[in-house]
Amino acid sequence: MKIVTIFSTKGGVGKSTISANFSSVSLLEGRDVITLDFDPNNSLRYHFGFAQSSIDGHALATLSKTSLKNQIKVSPDRSKILPFGNLDDDQLNAYEELLLQDPMMLRKEIESMNLNASDIVIIDAPAGSTIYSQQALNASDVVVVPLLADASSYLTLPQSITMLKRHCLNRPNFDGFMVILNQVNRSFELNTNITEIIKTKFVNHVFAEIHQDQAIPEALACGTNVLSYAPESLGAQDMIDAAQILETYFLGK
Ligand SMILES: Nc1ncnc2c1ncn2[C@@H]1O[C@H](COP(=O)(O)OP(=O)(O)O)[C@@H](O)[C@H]1O
Ligand SMILES: [Mg+2]
Repeated sequence: MKIVTIFSTKGGVGKSTISANFSSVSLLEGRDVITLDFDPNNSLRYHFGFAQSSIDGHALATLSKTSLKNQIKVSPDRSKILPFGNLDDDQLNAYEELLLQDPMMLRKEIESMNLNASDIVIIDAPAGSTIYSQQALNASDVVVVPLLADASSYLTLPQSITMLKRHCLNRPNFDGFMVILNQVNRSFELNTNITEIIKTKFVNHVFAEIHQDQAIPEALACGTNVLSYAPESLGAQDMIDAAQILETYFLGK
């Protein structure tokens, strides 16, 4: 079992979108993939068509010391998701207390599911340098860092790298990280210029590019992923290419 954490200190860069879409790409590749929402806003489920607010999730399972496996939901396209769940303030405080007590708690909870060696768990980490992102990084074997081709993403990239250094890069068993430049659109000059700067910066690094494509937010609006919604779109093809780069460099069967 490998844990792939999708992480950036910046919000709105495509972490949830990539987490949700990678799970369906990997399904196509014949792997068993579980996508775990580690954001207390509990919104990854919308990408899988689970709109009802009463949905349980892995955080309540941890609090009640029951198996996370019972909380796995299967979407219409057969993707497997572990929602965070809806916690009230007291439950959230109790959960965060557990996170504070054990920096490896999430890893241990995932390991307690006893998944197969070839299985993948994708963690959708929330933005910021919080206790959640620390846990998600501590749990990871591989990290995917999405960023946008804009000034704000570029300027906050060092914060993400600092977090990676602190929680991943000094671990001997850590497999490495991949950068994904998302929402690339060469019809805008600034977008093109920042794309080139970032490509130069990561020229010797595992790197992928995903174009800006309206099919991606449209798929979310329909509660599904872009591979089901518009399989011929540029966005779908880019997701497949990026997931294959991840597979080739870090997940090799
Ligand atoms: N390649 C893309 N092209 C167009 N829109 C995108 C693309 N990637 C993500 N989006 C949209 O950007 C918004 C933010 O993405 P999201 O995955 O929620 O970011 P994060 O999880 O990092 O906060 C969403 O509305 C999503 O549909
Ligand atoms: Mg998100």
